[in-house]
Amino acid sequence: MPAAATQLKAVAKEAASCTRCPLYRNATQTVFGEGAARATIMLVGEQPGDQEDLAGHPFVGPAGKVLDRAMAEAGLDRKKVWLTNAVKHFKNEPRGKKRLHKRPNRYEVEVCRVWLRQEISLVKPQLILALGVTAAIALAGRPVVLSRERGRVIELEDGQRGMVTTHPSSILRMPDPKARHAAFAALVKDLKAAVKAA
Ligand code: URA
Repeated sequence: MPAAATQLKAVAKEAASCTRCPLYRNATQTVFGEGAARATIMLVGEQPGDQEDLAGHPFVGPAGKVLDRAMAEAGLDRKKVWLTNAVKHFKNEPRGKKRLHKRPNRYEVEVCRVWLRQEISLVKPQLILALGVTAAIALAGRPVVLSRERGRVIELEDGQRGMVTTHPSSILRMPDPKARHAAFAALVKDLKAAVKAA
């Protein structure tokens, strides 16, 4: 059996030509997960944004910068985790020349789980941290209320151990600096809790 890294590369190659849902039509490319093939912690976001779609890497845009800062404060090295998304294509609903991001729907999340499941079964993380409600629902297979369940270990579908926290882009959208600061501190706290629980 080839090493996890080799198998993940093979799955990424397969995912690169995924046409299981219509999102591939308006996206530049599949953005597969990346990081340490046998990471103890896996972080799962919602879907690639505009910059991730163009670059082909997860969390390289503004939300990624927030995540990088929060991870640094929590002592988490990006190279040592597996960082991925629930949906692997940018949902681009262009209006004229503008590339407009839209949230994936339930069907798109469900169809894309085929890739997330393979990432989980190859990386075999001790703990999977969902960033935001879309990832939380994809992983838990049930409705999740972030405010009630964040920061503690929950059982995910298929029995894995998981935690949920806010999505870094929700912090960016907060107009009040005080609220933004508090939300960032809460994200760091959750990341620290994930490190401890892994
Ligand atoms: N938001 C996400 O959920 N994932 C990314 O990769 C970028 C932004």
